[in-house]
Amino acid sequence: MIIKLEQLTGHAKQAKIGKLNVAEGDQIEIGQPLLQLESKKGNSPVHSKYKGKIEKVLVDEGQEIEIGQSLFEMTAEETAAAPSEVKPKLDYFGGLLKGKKEDVRTDLLVIGAGPGGYVAALYAAKKGIQTVLVEKDSMGGTCLNVGCIPTKALIKSSEVFHQMMHADDFGLSVKEIELDMAKVIDKKDEIKGSLVSGIEYLLGKNNVRVIKGDASFLNDHHVLVKNGKDEYTIEADNTIIATGSQIADIALPGIDHEFVMDSTSALAYRKNISSVTIIGGGVIGMEFAFLYSNFGIQVNVLEFCDRLLTMVDKDVSEEIAHIAAEQGIGVFNGAKVTRIEKDQTGKAVVIFEQGGVEKFITSEKVLVAIGRTPNIDGLELEKTGVKLNDNRKGIAVNEHLQTSLAHIYAIGDVTNRIQLAHVASHEGIAAVDHILGTAAHMDYEMVPNVIFTSPEIAEVGLNEDQARLLGRNIQVSKFPFQANGKALTMREGRGFIKLVKDLDSNKLIGASIIGPEASALISTLTIMIGSGIPEEEIAHAIFAHPTTGEVIHEAILGFGVGALHYDE
Ligand code: NAI
Repeated sequence: MIIKLEQLTGHAKQAKIGKLNVAEGDQIEIGQPLLQLESKKGNSPVHSKYKGKIEKVLVDEGQEIEIGQSLFEMTAEETAAAPSEVKPKLDYFGGLLKGKKEDVRTDLLVIGAGPGGYVAALYAAKKGIQTVLVEKDSMGGTCLNVGCIPTKALIKSSEVFHQMMHADDFGLSVKEIELDMAKVIDKKDEIKGSLVSGIEYLLGKNNVRVIKGDASFLNDHHVLVKNGKDEYTIEADNTIIATGSQIADIALPGIDHEFVMDSTSALAYRKNISSVTIIGGGVIGMEFAFLYSNFGIQVNVLEFCDRLLTMVDKDVSEEIAHIAAEQGIGVFNGAKVTRIEKDQTGKAVVIFEQGGVEKFITSEKVLVAIGRTPNIDGLELEKTGVKLNDNRKGIAVNEHLQTSLAHIYAIGDVTNRIQLAHVASHEGIAAVDHILGTAAHMDYEMVPNVIFTSPEIAEVGLNEDQARLLGRNIQVSKFPFQANGKALTMREGRGFIKLVKDLDSNKLIGASIIGPEASALISTLTIMIGSGIPEEEIAHAIFAHPTTGEVIHEAILGFGVGALHYDE
């Protein structure tokens, strides 16, 4: 039989073959990637709907093809009605077909395809390791599907809306601006979709075998993957657990009211809303606070601690609280939420205690953002020698990311150390390097941390408070964006950069930024501080003008001669 191209991503009419995954004579399984397509609408693999033998390959890598193009000549032994590994198969007599059972042997098994797992799998495959990646859901994990990427897409829409509402600041007048949340969500989903299919494409192109299903350990050396009636028993020389985290539960009366959202449901909510109360002034809470406020939605934040974003420098925390207040975001620190009720009109009433006084806030919606917890349920780790952290939250690992079993590694949120996508990715690479016997390096002291509020916040190394707490002998240099030309042209002169220098070693040990493009500036500082470039060399470096990066130069000068464009 002839296998033809049946569809292309989106409405693409043509595509190029990036890579052929099979050759003449290959025996293939249902669901196996046959080739990788590259089109203007995105990259995607073509999976086999048949089990059988490839008799002839009718196309070449790099060839432009259209729907209907003949791809392979094949002798088919078994057919799937739909891509097999995803859906249970129904036969024409109404019963379920007997599931497929397969024993799989591989060098490396990665469980979970988030930014930890899929990066580990891609890196391992590029290093020549035979790799199987198991995922029960969509590629990309929380980050791509319900975390980093979707929030940033919504944040961008909200910032554009906010700028249009303040068009006057740019000398412009805009007649009518309308928020259509359903469209905003659709645009976000388009971006997410193209990134997810991009990852599928890359995995296919690098010959990573993806098995869809729920993984659980049978013992120290075997993992069972179940997908409907299909079962795979996987034996691997090494395994990386990268199952990530999930939204933490909170035992709060009234949490089940229909108007209560978590970050996942908020990212899918398609209706315009007028007001929201956010429980938790941490990273998720504050990113959503600015996102909603930029859309013109009334926002109140209830934070249990005495300040917002407790993980960042105190001055930064104060500055964001100040900016939030200016923008009309209500912030209640030291607020202990006791219950959520519904009033007579169906609105949410969040009741909290602050300074011994009971208070309440009414809003249309409530967003709960009080942390995330590692995904270990269902892995059946008790059937293995893999040990948990002392507090039973997350998997315990050593400096090489090995669990209590040398051939099983754990990376990312599931270890409950630092819940950041880029840490998970880097740990994935370090784990693979360790498997290969190459020097693996994870430097947790130089992890950049970015919070996408408006303006953005970014830190690396030790902030001033942390350095003082450790008793370090430090000098601090601060420079405001208000004295940076580029920031003013952007109408974003709020915030500052703060550099921290250790006077004993005479080295920079940390940076905190709140201001425009903080997320981009922190990369430069991560390299500068991480590689220990002496302050004088940075002072001699030429920073392009006009750029926000000049604040780094000015803050460096602040340690010596003093900033040139600002005097207190
Ligand atoms: P979080 O730990 O950052 O903040 C939770 C906040 O909720 C804390 O400030 C806590 O004091 C407060 N809280 C807890 N219980 C409360 C209660 N009953 N009433 C009032 N306040 C309460 O957790 P979040 O924001 O949910 O984020 C989860 C993880 O995801 C974090 O580790 C974060 O780093 C990561 N993340 C990273 C992002 C980034 O890198 N840009 C974006 C979003 C999340």
